[in-house]
Amino acid sequence: MPSEPLSRNAAAFREALIAWYDANARDLPWRREPSTYKTVVSEFMLQQTQVKTVLPYFAAWLEAYPDFASLAAASEEQVLKSWEGLGYYSRARNLHKLAREVAAIPPGQLPTDAKSWLKFPGVGPYAAAAICSISFSDPSAVVDGNVVRILARLTADESDYKTSTDAAKSYRGLVQELLNLERPGDHNQAMMELGATVCHKQSPTCLLCPVQSHCQAQALGIAETLPRLAKTKFKEVTVNRAWIQSEHGILLHKIPADAKRMKGLHELPDLAQLGIPVPKGKPTLTRKRGITKYRITERIHALPPGKLPSKLPEHHVWVAPAALQRLPFSGPHRRWVTELVEASGH
Ligand code: ADE
Repeated sequence: MPSEPLSRNAAAFREALIAWYDANARDLPWRREPSTYKTVVSEFMLQQTQVKTVLPYFAAWLEAYPDFASLAAASEEQVLKSWEGLGYYSRARNLHKLAREVAAIPPGQLPTDAKSWLKFPGVGPYAAAAICSISFSDPSAVVDGNVVRILARLTADESDYKTSTDAAKSYRGLVQELLNLERPGDHNQAMMELGATVCHKQSPTCLLCPVQSHCQAQALGIAETLPRLAKTKFKEVTVNRAWIQSEHGILLHKIPADAKRMKGLHELPDLAQLGIPVPKGKPTLTRKRGITKYRITERIHALPPGKLPSKLPEHHVWVAPAALQRLPFSGPHRRWVTELVEASGH
């Protein structure tokens, strides 16, 4: 077991980490000819989403919006459409707002420190530290889930954390102490890289780890059991939805601007919102999915338009099948609508 605490070996730790990163960093598109814009877009996309999912979206995004100005000039509907399928759509709306704010800042006056970046829409402590360290060499250490896992293992921390935020708080000081002040952006990316490619949640490949000799959990053989985070309690929810076609097209709900989530996206309408009772019998389509702590069973019922109230409730629209492709949907709703359109022979 390492005899010295990590903070006393900080210099050896950061040297081993950066040497490993220089030799092993993945060739990712936001690391090639980096720019502040690419860094911002990649950090927004990579929150809650894996690198392999992000790659095609990142490429298409840079084609459509090569810089802050072109993103600022796009409509919200276009932006949501480009984000379609990536999930957590508030990221897209915030990135769009951020681009509008940045595009309005005179050249040379864009702030370069994490504290100032916290004021931009959608930028929390993680994104602020990542963007400013990578783009401006600001000495801010990132603490995300990967970093918490690495630190809990390095220190063999067996505390029971209620939430990942509590765990992150407990490592702020140590993470900042470990930061490589000459190359803060590369150091932060090296920590993320280590978490993504070596210090996996399950079956970490400790034998390939550049900082193995600093790791108390590896020495104790308990790496895989850390960090100790309370299990998420899932909530089961059922939603009944309508698939209604008429001579005007397909009935959809456009989620209004004052909704909590998915504003501006289209979805299959909820029967309860339409005031239609849940029909007896098997739904046309049943699909299960998970969002954050919810386990949702979606039951979609094909119904004749005669079931609708004489006046459609607000935010419900008829959309011609040919227009579906242009509208922004969430990934799952896009898939269900495509399945149902194909089944109905359009
Ligand atoms: N996850 C978040 N930011 C990242 C980055 N810059 N490189 C790789 N994975 C990341």
